[in-house]
Amino acid sequence: MPRSVGFKYLFEKRPELKIAIFAGKGGLGKTTSSAALSYKLSTMGKRVLCFSTDPQASLSDIFEKDLFGKGEIEISKNLYVLEIDADKRIKEYVDSIRQKIKDMYKIEEIPREVEDYIESAVAEPAMYESAVYDAMLDVVSQNKYDFYVFDMPPFGHGIRMVAMADILSKWVDKITEARRQAYEYEKVASRLKREKYTEREDQLLKELESIRDRIVSFSRLITDPKGTAFTMVLIPEKMAIVDTEKALKMFEELGLRMSGVVVNQVYPPAILEDPRAPEYLKKRVEAQKPFLREIYEKFEDLILAIIPMLRREPRGLEMIEAVAKELWESTITLDDLEAISKR
Ligand SMILES: Nc1ncnc2c1ncn2[C@@H]1O[C@H](COP(=O)(O)OP(=O)(O)OP(=O)(O)O)[C@@H](O)[C@H]1O
Ligand SMILES: [Mg+2]
Repeated sequence: MPRSVGFKYLFEKRPELKIAIFAGKGGLGKTTSSAALSYKLSTMGKRVLCFSTDPQASLSDIFEKDLFGKGEIEISKNLYVLEIDADKRIKEYVDSIRQKIKDMYKIEEIPREVEDYIESAVAEPAMYESAVYDAMLDVVSQNKYDFYVFDMPPFGHGIRMVAMADILSKWVDKITEARRQAYEYEKVASRLKREKYTEREDQLLKELESIRDRIVSFSRLITDPKGTAFTMVLIPEKMAIVDTEKALKMFEELGLRMSGVVVNQVYPPAILEDPRAPEYLKKRVEAQKPFLREIYEKFEDLILAIIPMLRREPRGLEMIEAVAKELWESTITLDDLEAISKR
């Protein structure tokens, strides 16, 4: 029996899965894998939402439809795609903060120094990241779909957020306590001065608490061992292997388990046996060999699927279907990888 791999086996083992996350560095195949899995599950009768925040609008590219910033769009039966405009979301969020500051301090204009501070915060990559994670939480909490596939942006896999959730929780608790005490003093002081104490709602504290709650919820969402499959996409190249190892280490340090890895863009080893295969293709197989060996040795138990290198960039439902087949039940098996590693 060849040791087959594919998402089919993952879903057999974990039928209660509701979320799949594809993470990894830029250009390795996150969007391609997300589209393929979404498509596959939708053909099996699940209502699926495929979600991305890529400003390059790559889901629009692969599904050959303008989807960017247009809300949830039905692509085919049961398959919906949401490509959000993160910059727009950040702008809306920051505007709401401005309004809260104005309301709280009863001012018309925000002071220049504060405005400068807000603007520099907007430029922070963390702001972009948190807008993305917020949007992910939003769609999941609406609970309109049977399954969610998240095509993660290349900057972060959200793992840092998990590490932050704990630290931030403690920090917000401390601030809450300090502010509560300050209130008590204020109250006592105004009583001593025989002034009437007017309680003021602490909007900023509320904001901090809501940020904390969202980060904690997000961290639960991506680390849910039952409902979420967190996967990294890699290709047979040095940098991708190194990055995957690093991410795995981060997972381990946080006491988390990654569901596995997808090995993409693999030249099928069978090419070497095919007398009609052109020489240049055989060379590509040879070139990938040492990296496939490394992947097999380092990640054998983690390999969820192996996707072959296709003749052209996958685009349109027909090609997505071809990738989906490979993602579901890969034609390249673990035995093929083992064999190629031994050669
Ligand atoms: N198996 C494959 N065979 C051939 N081309 C592929 C394959 N997988 C991905 N590609 C192509 O490689 C490029 C990168 O793939 P994709 O967009 O899925 O990666 P990504 O990880 O989402 O990238 P980014 O980080 O830029 O969002 C695309 O042009 C895609 O069409
Ligand atoms: Mg992408």
